[in-house]
Amino acid sequence: MKFFIDTANLDQIREANDLGILDGVTTNPSLMAKEGIRGEENILKHYLEICRIVDGDVSAEVIATDYEGMIREGERLAALHPRIVVKIPMIREGLKAIRELNARGIKTNCTLVFSAGQAILAAKAGATYVSPFIGRLDDISTDGIELIAQIVDIFRYYEFETQVLAASIRHSMHIVGCAEAGADVVTCPLEPILGLLKHPLTDLGLEKFLADHNRQ
Ligand code: E4P
Repeated sequence: MKFFIDTANLDQIREANDLGILDGVTTNPSLMAKEGIRGEENILKHYLEICRIVDGDVSAEVIATDYEGMIREGERLAALHPRIVVKIPMIREGLKAIRELNARGIKTNCTLVFSAGQAILAAKAGATYVSPFIGRLDDISTDGIELIAQIVDIFRYYEFETQVLAASIRHSMHIVGCAEAGADVVTCPLEPILGLLKHPLTDLGLEKFLADHNRQ
């Protein structure tokens, strides 16, 4: 399972990259705004900066919601760097844009996916990644991990090449659940990744080993 970080914060991207387990980055317009990145030129520069830090796919989301606009923006984003993946929302026009960008050799990540039906459509259109948002489903009392397992099963059955990128991860156990469900990728903030490191018995065990060593 690949690990992407879901942020536009360069320090956090560097920190995750330094752990040596980072395979890519996802961003969205809210995450870019959170970092105060505004204006087309600054946004494009920021994506380039991210591509310089991480040796993996970097998802950059279009703002347009019409077909022509998404194609135009998608072309512009993809021309920035070979590792840019164009993030397209799961809407009717988005599906058409995914098909066209795929035909032009541009990688896509279909975002805002909340059902198996939407995931099937994205795969049929040729999306490189499909992003089911599991935390937002959990928020409305619907099992997000179950959706990941369902999509993984369907994609395996039909041998779709689209990768299941579990998004909207809220905590470390979401990551473990996604791994059990067979997700190809998880994208999460830094905290849930660091949370995987923690176990009190590890800390206690290390403390004891060091104490015993120092007593000799
Ligand atoms: C995915 O690519 C999105 O950027 C993200 O995971 C959304 O997460 P949220 O529900 O925490 O906003």
